[in-house]
Amino acid sequence: MEAFNKVVFDNGRRHTVKRADVFKLKPKGIDLVYLDPPYVPRSDDNCYMKRYHFLEGLSCYWQGVRIMEQTRVKKIEKPYTPFSYRKTAIKAFDRLFDIFRDSIVVLSYSSNGFPDRDELEALLRRYKTNVTAYERPHRYHFGTHDRVERAEVHEYLIVGR
Ligand SMILES: C[S@@+](CC[C@H](N)C(=O)[O-])C[C@H]1O[C@@H](n2cnc3c(N)ncnc32)[C@H](O)[C@@H]1O
Repeated sequence: MEAFNKVVFDNGRRHTVKRADVFKLKPKGIDLVYLDPPYVPRSDDNCYMKRYHFLEGLSCYWQGVRIMEQTRVKKIEKPYTPFSYRKTAIKAFDRLFDIFRDSIVVLSYSSNGFPDRDELEALLRRYKTNVTAYERPHRYHFGTHDRVERAEVHEYLIVGR
């Protein structure tokens, strides 16, 4: 907590926060946008809702979501998102890049997602003349002591200008 709290600072300017469906936003005058959408997982274990439901609930104080009372950790229902399905993901990324065509795009992605990095970069090039990808190896650890799952992946930061 100490480490995380140290990155919080006041720059003296006014900021706003919005929690909304990105496809319903009409963003204007945004210099740079950081995007970290879900991706079609190779296995269900990478589902963000399965791992991070607590943060998803906390971000809206559990208002307007349905808690699955029968689950041990009180998960919330996974809302539909086109990013999570092979049939709809490519179109969703295309629409996303179109929405932010006037901003610098910084996209967080992973080698275990669909579509793959080449396809995603090609999509981004439809809207940006300069696309650069930065890559880092990463090892995930999921689960408890007796059942830890590990996955070796590459994390990407894809920047489009
Ligand atoms: C991989 S998680 C991002 C995690 C976040 N960057 C963090 O570090 O905590 C993907 C996020 O995309 C959000 N999301 C999915 N579909 C969305 C949509 N159509 N509009 C806005 N957000 C969406 C999910 O609610 C989830 O918070």
